[in-house]
Amino acid sequence: MRRTASRNLATVMLSEAKHLLCEYRQCRPFASLRVTVFIACVHAAWLFLTGCTAATPGALATPYPTLSRPLPTLTPGPLHLAEFAPIERPSASRGMERYTALCESCHGETGRGDTALARTLSPRPANFHDLEFLRRRTPSSLYHSISKGVLGTGMLAYEGQLSEAQRWDVLAYLWTFHRQSDELAAGQSLYAQHCAACHGANGAGGLASPLANPSLLAGRTGYGMFNALSGGLPATPNHEWSTMSEADRWAIVEYVWTFMFGKE
Ligand code: HEC
Ligand code: HEC
Repeated sequence: MRRTASRNLATVMLSEAKHLLCEYRQCRPFASLRVTVFIACVHAAWLFLTGCTAATPGALATPYPTLSRPLPTLTPGPLHLAEFAPIERPSASRGMERYTALCESCHGETGRGDTALARTLSPRPANFHDLEFLRRRTPSSLYHSISKGVLGTGMLAYEGQLSEAQRWDVLAYLWTFHRQSDELAAGQSLYAQHCAACHGANGAGGLASPLANPSLLAGRTGYGMFNALSGGLPATPNHEWSTMSEADRWAIVEYVWTFMFGKE
């Protein structure tokens, strides 16, 4: 009984809709009144029809669009800060001069630590192309070694010869040896795509902490940042880009370092 009633109702409404459409096209007066009446009818009919279709409510629900990946949950936590951080942005080009004068004899012109003098030393001077070495160290700890030296090795303390800013400058210079410009460019565009929405363009911050904060970056390691992009932030569980290739995640990390060391 109800089914025939609803079919009749549907037929009536369809013809009314056609009628209204004709009137609208010809710009007849009173059309708007009829539209109001029509809408009221649709509502009444809807109430009637939903009674019939109560058995299949799922069919009426519009599914939510699915996101390709969930957004990280925003739970800013206390960030541990570096023991040593530059007060102003270090300059690799200023550092180059000091490096040539004071460091090159052991660490080499290209930073590979393979000079004649280096070969006489044990342990050998650090090789600044060694990614395993660089990714495990914080800039803060390298700055500490440059300042105080490494006890029992050929690495002497430079705090007497170089000011704080000059020590950060040589560190910024030795940081350039392992860099590749195509990797940095890739990192820059991946950052814009995946990170800038929360951490801001150029790391200026926004929804999440500014990354262009030397006190934050100087206390991080490359591996630490890589892990933070691979689901390793306990307080921010969805902070994960594990489907991105490792090379791309490393490119982002390299780009993030430029917020502290610059791009020169
Ligand atoms: C939806 C927002 C959001 C996006 C997108 C995002 N982050 Fe984060 N990120 C956070 C939050 C929240 C934290 C927790 C610390 C804070 O900022 O309060 C965090 C923390 C970090 C940290 C610090 C980790 C530590 O050691 O304490 C780094 C580094 C970082 N993000 C890098 C990135 C990079 C690189 C990208 C792009 C691949 C990215 N984030 C994308 C929200 C985001
Ligand atoms: C006489 C040789 C010599 C000179 C000159 C020298 N270094 Fe070193 N440097 C070394 C040796 C050897 C090591 C390895 C120490 C070790 O294995 O812990 C080293 C290690 C380092 C490290 C890594 C420290 C760490 O914590 O692992 C840094 C950074 C560094 N040197 C920077 C410099 C800078 C900057 C200069 C110039 C201002 C300089 N070095 C001059 C011999 C030298």
